[in-house]
Amino acid sequence: MADIKRVLRSRSWYGGADKDAFAHRSWIKNQGHPDHMFDGRPVIGICNTWSDLNPCNAHFRELSEVVKRGVYESGGFPVEFPAMSLGETTLRPTAMLFRNLASMEVEESIRANPIDGVVLLVGCDKTTPALLMGAASCDLPTIALSGGPMLNGKYRGRELGSGTSVWQFSEAVKAGEMTLADFMSAESGMSRSPGHCMTMGTASTMASMVEALGVGLPENAAYPAVDSRRRRLAYLVGNRIVAMVAEDLRLSRILTRAAFQNAIRVNGAIGGSTNAVVHLLAIAGRLGIPLTLDDWDTWGRDVPTIVDLMPSGRFLMEDFCYAGGLPVVLKALGDNGLLNRDALTVNGRTIWDNVSAAENFNPEVIRPFDRPLTQSGGIAVLRGNLAPSGAILKPSAATPALMQHRGRAVVFESIEDYKRRIADPDLAIDETSVMVLKNCGPKGYPGMAEVGNMGLPPKLLAKGIKDMVRISDARMSGTAYGTVVLHAAPEAAAGGPIALVREGDAIELDVAGRRLHLDVSDAELERRRARWTPPAPPMSSGYQKLYVDHVLGADRGADLDFLVGNRGAAVPRESH
Ligand code: FES
Repeated sequence: MADIKRVLRSRSWYGGADKDAFAHRSWIKNQGHPDHMFDGRPVIGICNTWSDLNPCNAHFRELSEVVKRGVYESGGFPVEFPAMSLGETTLRPTAMLFRNLASMEVEESIRANPIDGVVLLVGCDKTTPALLMGAASCDLPTIALSGGPMLNGKYRGRELGSGTSVWQFSEAVKAGEMTLADFMSAESGMSRSPGHCMTMGTASTMASMVEALGVGLPENAAYPAVDSRRRRLAYLVGNRIVAMVAEDLRLSRILTRAAFQNAIRVNGAIGGSTNAVVHLLAIAGRLGIPLTLDDWDTWGRDVPTIVDLMPSGRFLMEDFCYAGGLPVVLKALGDNGLLNRDALTVNGRTIWDNVSAAENFNPEVIRPFDRPLTQSGGIAVLRGNLAPSGAILKPSAATPALMQHRGRAVVFESIEDYKRRIADPDLAIDETSVMVLKNCGPKGYPGMAEVGNMGLPPKLLAKGIKDMVRISDARMSGTAYGTVVLHAAPEAAAGGPIALVREGDAIELDVAGRRLHLDVSDAELERRRARWTPPAPPMSSGYQKLYVDHVLGADRGADLDFLVGNRGAAVPRESH
């Protein structure tokens, strides 16, 4: 322990015999900690996003206690601290508005406290990137532990997927294919246990990213929240973080460009959420790693989607777990030359060491490479005069016949405008139209709402139309699907070309050619731009003002400009 004592941050609080050390130890001893907790052992911060208001993370107090047991067993001193819990289904206007705020809280909580190593308890969509971003800015030894998915939803003998089934049922009610009474009674069958959404939505995707980046232990992604193996993993995380402090295995040695390449390829193989794009860009940005939208397209382009989970496919996370989980996917990528096998992970082994013996127990759920769900998975990055800084589309969730399409724009100036007019029987729209939604980007909403998968007009649903091309500067839920072009950048509120689209303009989408074109002359676009004025932000003070003044575009991860860049490891200063 002598060597560790020399380097531990916590010694500048808890070491010594002066007045300050007295104060630092004395007050915290009011919790019953004995003297030997201050003998130079590593202090492990457990960042807990528990909240009754965040159903996906509501079991985290129990999980935290298990992590503590592992820390104690390995000779560490665990201290739990809270971070703003971002409940996706509850927070208004959108949880994404607060991702950066939570990341700042996490960073400053770590930086300001006597912490040597960190365990991040993450689950619901935004909690994973928020905590990783905050921890990345401090660069201490860190392990992320996901809370695990809910059990599969069940309703009248069929499987219900979080989010995905809600979108399907809601459209079915509008189309007259499902009664409102059935819709309401499905509600209680969907969320049957603690845990996060059990489709391959954003939470499951980000839990997979944690494992693929090597910042979580193997098997992190898929164990259900209520599976005892989830708690066993929490115990091992407690053991391992103490050893990581001794090894000084910092986050920057794990989160390398090679690790991000692995994660992007995994996202393609699992049919992961489009939200992973902004989150990984933002996490990389905190470490000064040059990750771009083009990396997403280049690295993910040839990756087949082999995991057959909703929203792209049929199964759910419980099935994925029983099939072998993410190690099977990582092994398949490694066997096919699509994995940086030497990437280091938090257990001190390479990612290939961790997964090379993985077995697939259900090739229907995790398909072989030569029988994929979609040959070209990943994220398509589109460019053109409608999105010069890029827009994205998830091919595995789109309709193949619509991926090359030309149609007339039906324009909604805001989500409120969309809601007002979409059910109007006189709305001039048919299935060949292209729905365009403006002012829902990072600045425009603000927070970049998950509304890009706007529902189709009821009159077309009633005709049996299931999908149309939709374009916006918004995000969409990871549980959603459709031929949906998202994250158009620059966004409308920042004066991007999407702000200039008018009703009836022709728009061309060519996914194979990675092109998104507004068929309007440059001269006409300049005329429109001269008359364009930015929308007034909904709030001109408080955090929303800070956010709108400083948020970067979706193509740069929608982080705040002053948070980007490697600020170096957390360094303690004397207290005053
Ligand atoms: Fe929390 Fe989906 S609502 S993960």
